[in-house]
Amino acid sequence: MHDLTVIDPVTRIEGHAKITIALGDDGTPSETRFHVTEFRGFEEFCVGRPVWEMPSLTARTCGICPVSHLLASAKAGDAVMGVRIPPAGERLRRIANLGQIIQSHALSFFHLSAPDLLLGMDADPATRNVFGLMAAEPDLARKGIRLRSFGQSVIEAIAGRKVHAPGIVPGGIAHPMDAETRDLLIGGLDEAHGTVVAAIELFTGILDQFEREVDAFGRFPSLFMGLANPRGTWEHYDGTLSVVDHDGTVVARGVEASEYRTIVGEAGREDSYLKSPYFKPRVGDDDPPERGMYRVGPLARLNVCETMGTPEADAALAVYRERAGGVASSSFFYHYARLIEALAATERMAEHLAHPDLLDEKVRSEAASNFRHVVGVSEAPRGTLFHDYEVDEHGLLTSVNMIIATGQNNLAMNATVHQIAKEWIDGPEIPEGVLNRLEAGIRAFDPCLSCSTHAIGEMPMVVDLVGPDGATICRRQRD
Ligand code: MG
Ligand code: NI
Repeated sequence: MHDLTVIDPVTRIEGHAKITIALGDDGTPSETRFHVTEFRGFEEFCVGRPVWEMPSLTARTCGICPVSHLLASAKAGDAVMGVRIPPAGERLRRIANLGQIIQSHALSFFHLSAPDLLLGMDADPATRNVFGLMAAEPDLARKGIRLRSFGQSVIEAIAGRKVHAPGIVPGGIAHPMDAETRDLLIGGLDEAHGTVVAAIELFTGILDQFEREVDAFGRFPSLFMGLANPRGTWEHYDGTLSVVDHDGTVVARGVEASEYRTIVGEAGREDSYLKSPYFKPRVGDDDPPERGMYRVGPLARLNVCETMGTPEADAALAVYRERAGGVASSSFFYHYARLIEALAATERMAEHLAHPDLLDEKVRSEAASNFRHVVGVSEAPRGTLFHDYEVDEHGLLTSVNMIIATGQNNLAMNATVHQIAKEWIDGPEIPEGVLNRLEAGIRAFDPCLSCSTHAIGEMPMVVDLVGPDGATICRRQRD
């Protein structure tokens, strides 16, 4: 069979995503791959820089999830100093991350996925977009835009407007919050909460129309990894790593972020594809990394936690689990999980904003560089993010490894597009509705392709259908 690990030089363009579907001798898909060309040079580029600069440096690499990089990098900086950050500093970091979860999940649901969900997977691509949604469902589209901008205003209030002078720094937060800003944010919460509640009602109302997608959009057994806290409640900022299997068996619990290498391996294919992290204990020397396939992000976080820790989100989680049949194993449920996280985010944010220590002036701990090898971890909207640094005695970086959420979902995204190809492709063509389902299968994971490529911008996609002899039978391209 044609070797799919060879990158076609024509499409080896930074910022291009590519799906290759290989047909077997029987004319049905035998292997499918989702490739992202990763710009590897970024980690090396950081070597020699002061660790204190890393939050703003890494935040600038991604226009989609800068707060995740700010947090993971600032937490690595906390660990270099060996300090605990002041309570108000931690609270502000948590609020910023909740703001990012809201803005990112709003973008994923309302702007990117709602056109498929509400206008239909087979709708005309000319109108199956946010503009088509505005024409068909103006109220919903407007609410989605406002929800996203609420999340954005929370981020700006804490992390700052300018990425080169970020508010999230090693040791805590650069500036305390004032009462006026707090009250402004509290004032926006009700509407945000109402929009999320309405979105959950909408989604649960249409879920039954997508039975085939629920079955074929990445419904397979895999492991799930996320941060968890000792109380078993949903976690997005701190805690330890937890891994559960598709049947609910806990296969790892309480793994400190600094020890992540004991459970996470990175399959390095010699080509420039995104690396494929896998769960190490499942993969022997001669095994393919797929044996240790795990998913991260909203689906995984809801699978590893016992409760959301807030009343409305817990009620929503109970309904979710009933509909998913326990541990959710279909990637289509990422959409649903995202909305429950957004609901929990509004509830948690209300608690944090009402807390008496929020306005405390002491938001930053200071110390010199005391530790040499550190790991900072945070839950990005799309999954667990690791920043692994080694520094010299002056705090200059000697080695950097970042493991991003989208990379960790790489094996599962491959398995998802393969399942979709097998379900819908039965000839030498890629019809529009099938092309869209392949994209939608990837979109369910809400990958940050900016993080994958360290290039900001839209990602054009190429889908190739390859015959048993290796010749391309059909190519579809979106720019
Ligand atoms: Mg890396
Ligand atoms: Ni990103």
